[in-house]
Amino acid sequence: MAIGETITQFITQEQRRVGGTGEFTAILNDTLTACKQISNAVNKGALIGVLGGAGADNVQGEAQKKLDVISNDMMIQANEWGGHLAAMASEEMEDIYPIPDGYPRGKYLLLFDPLDGSSNIDVNISVGTIFSILRCPDGVTNPTMKDFLQPGTRQVCAGYALYGPSTMLVLTTGQGVNGFTLDRNIGEFVLTHPGMRIPEDTREFSINASNSRFWEAPVRRYIDECLAGKTGARGVDFNMRWVASMVAEVHRILTRGGIFMYPKDTKDPKKEGRLRLMYEANPMSFIVEQAGGVASTGRARILDIAPHDIHQRVPVILGSRNEVERVVAYHREAN
Ligand code: AHG
Ligand code: MN
Ligand code: MN
Repeated sequence: MAIGETITQFITQEQRRVGGTGEFTAILNDTLTACKQISNAVNKGALIGVLGGAGADNVQGEAQKKLDVISNDMMIQANEWGGHLAAMASEEMEDIYPIPDGYPRGKYLLLFDPLDGSSNIDVNISVGTIFSILRCPDGVTNPTMKDFLQPGTRQVCAGYALYGPSTMLVLTTGQGVNGFTLDRNIGEFVLTHPGMRIPEDTREFSINASNSRFWEAPVRRYIDECLAGKTGARGVDFNMRWVASMVAEVHRILTRGGIFMYPKDTKDPKKEGRLRLMYEANPMSFIVEQAGGVASTGRARILDIAPHDIHQRVPVILGSRNEVERVVAYHREAN
């Protein structure tokens, strides 16, 4: 592994090391192609007329942006033909997407949030794509929704693309976390951030404080202590950030530490949380744990959750180990 090598070199070498067949490398290559296409569309923005609403709601009842729909189509088209996937699932599609007849089916399942942070598109702030790869259960050639309902510990790969000032790709296959930067001149992601690690301590938190009247006591206690700074129980000042693109928040945390929370609250009692388990919380938790951080609902490790629906929502508290463990302890003490 050397700074400057392309992601294709990197994955191929990983594949050889574990004696793989190349199938997995092929899937990743197709996903990377989609991320480069999305990066292009996001980058050109108003020049190619892709900003604004699509005029429809998705399965979650959220207004879709044009780029949500375009990115979803790009992910499907780049990934459906390769022969190594059995089916896909996306934030933007109510049902799973089996590989159509006419293409060979393979033994992996791909889940994705094609465009994360889409409220930021029209205001030219960073957005991203999140993906997660699972094995299709043995013997299943015609997968249904239940074949996707595997805990996050079973992910074989997770990653995200961040469309920021640079486009970056951050990846884990369970052997640590590596970051690549898109070199547009050669059209390749190049290794720039090998072995990313989240510092264990932080003085920076991220939470949407407009929800504070709906928070549970342990979250309120933690944030109140951060806000009290030097004059409170913690005796140190904290800083706050909220981008409203989870990809950008996780990337900041991987780079300089921090704690990100979209906790359980009482705003809408029907919702277990804001973020979706299968294509937001699980892939990000896999990455965070592989970088030495912690990811919890406050009451349980996210990666251990047994899913009941591909679109289910969960509370998310992730980032620097010592701060996340503190919030988990506050939940325990409150019981
Ligand atoms: P998406 O755009 O895929 O629906 O996800 C947005 C998510 C996440 O990225 C972000 O952290 C959060 O929603 C923002 O929520 P608020 O609008 O409450 O700030
Ligand atoms: Mn999202
Ligand atoms: Mn999205």
